[in-house]
Amino acid sequence: MATHKLSRMYILFSVLLALVFPVAAHEHHDELTEEQANAPIDMILRLHIIVQIAVWGFLFPTGMVLGLSRSRWHVPLQSVGFALTAAGYILGHSHGGRAFLAGVHGTMANVMFVPIALQLTLGVYLKLHIHERSLRPWAVRLHGVVGKAYPVLGWTQMLFGAIAARGYCRGGHLGQCLAHYIMGSGFIAYGTIMAIMLLVGEAWVRRSGRSPEWWDSWVIMLWGIVNTFTEHRGSVWSVKDMQHTILGVLWWTGGGLGIVLSRNNQRTVVPSLIIILTGWAMSDHAQALMISTKVHAVFGYTLMSAGVARIVEVCFIAPKFAPLDAPDGDSQSDHTLTDIGKDDSSPSAAAGRAFRHLPSFLLVAAGLLFMAATDEELEFVHDEEMDHFTHFHPIPSLAFIFYTLVVSLINLYSNSGRNATAAATGDAIEMVPAAKWYAPVPAAETDVGPVHIIGDDGDDD
Ligand code: HEM
Ligand code: HEM
Repeated sequence: MATHKLSRMYILFSVLLALVFPVAAHEHHDELTEEQANAPIDMILRLHIIVQIAVWGFLFPTGMVLGLSRSRWHVPLQSVGFALTAAGYILGHSHGGRAFLAGVHGTMANVMFVPIALQLTLGVYLKLHIHERSLRPWAVRLHGVVGKAYPVLGWTQMLFGAIAARGYCRGGHLGQCLAHYIMGSGFIAYGTIMAIMLLVGEAWVRRSGRSPEWWDSWVIMLWGIVNTFTEHRGSVWSVKDMQHTILGVLWWTGGGLGIVLSRNNQRTVVPSLIIILTGWAMSDHAQALMISTKVHAVFGYTLMSAGVARIVEVCFIAPKFAPLDAPDGDSQSDHTLTDIGKDDSSPSAAAGRAFRHLPSFLLVAAGLLFMAATDEELEFVHDEEMDHFTHFHPIPSLAFIFYTLVVSLINLYSNSGRNATAAATGDAIEMVPAAKWYAPVPAAETDVGPVHIIGDDGDDD
């Protein structure tokens, strides 16, 4: 059994070595000839793209969820992920065909050695099951924080990869790239977090004693403050500078109102109103190209629909909560909410279950649309003589794929590892199939069971 463990460790360390000493990198030039820049992307680079999207877009996020649920599949899956990404790194460095200027994708790839090495080292340390009462609990926490950063790191690096492949965001385009990619990713994150909150975070929201809009409003307000002071560069105020700054002011003023109105667990429509106003501003944003104006309009309408859907959800769909009668233990307080009087099998509950995905899905779709609406992208579409319909078509499909992945991962979380056992024995805290929608708060959190389930699969202890 000990040799089994050693052989696994050996494999892990070999992968680590392969990552730390990448093969000699290909050269980067300060300038590219027309021929180098327009050469076709070769097979090696294509493979690089496929492998890295598979690993960082699907495998690592799945493995992360299995880590959170302490599934025995966590370590095998993440080990495969590391081996594949190492291969992907080598492919990225050894491609021929089209050549590229040095850029942020290559730099970020080097930066990512840090979280890769860290997670690998921490993972191996956790598997050793030493210092169980002193260091290990801290290592679990650190491993958890870095692990949850992986999807964000992967998203960023995949985006940088797409930008590298297209040669976007250089020179004067940088500002616009930042605005669109950060805001677009922000909307996607907002939609994703909303979905997580709806499906598995309900108990957490209740324990926090705050309504979901209280959190929304804070984020909107802080984001607004940042936008108010960062959207204007140079000495001349351009129309765009003004528009963006005014949106920033709208967010922090509205966010402030949202915080006040959502205190004491009250739900409020203010964040939705802000989303609608932002969508309206965007749909009216005049652009240089006709197609660009149309794309912004569709983006604006999508955002406005997301806001309207959220209002409907807050006002008519979400069940009314009453505080629990008597606080009982640490996991409940005066602010803990109960769903007394709510019938899960009623037609309105079923309607609620169907409707609740609409706001979050539309936010994801709006974010993707915004990311696809940079001047460079639209000039490309324009030059290719595509109309806005052809350009748009893939975006809802991307949104469908993304949202399917998110919902599948949330489901996986509730049905794998220790949550699978809990669901089978009726101990599940959140997301038992019969009570997905606002499950009651557990009386206490202490009966979750031992945390070190990974590795207890009998072959290495
Ligand atoms: C081969 C490398 C890895 C090994 C050996 C490993 C090992 C482990 C172990 C043993 C645990 C359970 C900790 C406990 O006892 O409670 C764990 C949890 C976890 N792992 Fe990994 N892991 C590896 C890679 C990764 C990667 C790449 C990610 C990120 C995508 C990740 C994300 C997580 C998360 C999020 C948790 C839950 C931590 C928490 O609940 O706070 N792991 N891992
Ligand atoms: C997310 C995980 C990824 C990692 C860790 C990664 C890593 C790398 C590395 C190390 C290189 C070599 C950079 C250099 O030579 O300086 C590279 C090159 C490249 N990658 Fe990625 N990559 C990832 C995903 C992607 C994706 C999703 C795409 C495209 C959609 C992509 C497109 C490219 C392109 C076009 C190059 C060539 C750029 C050049 O030669 O500098 N990568 N990548």
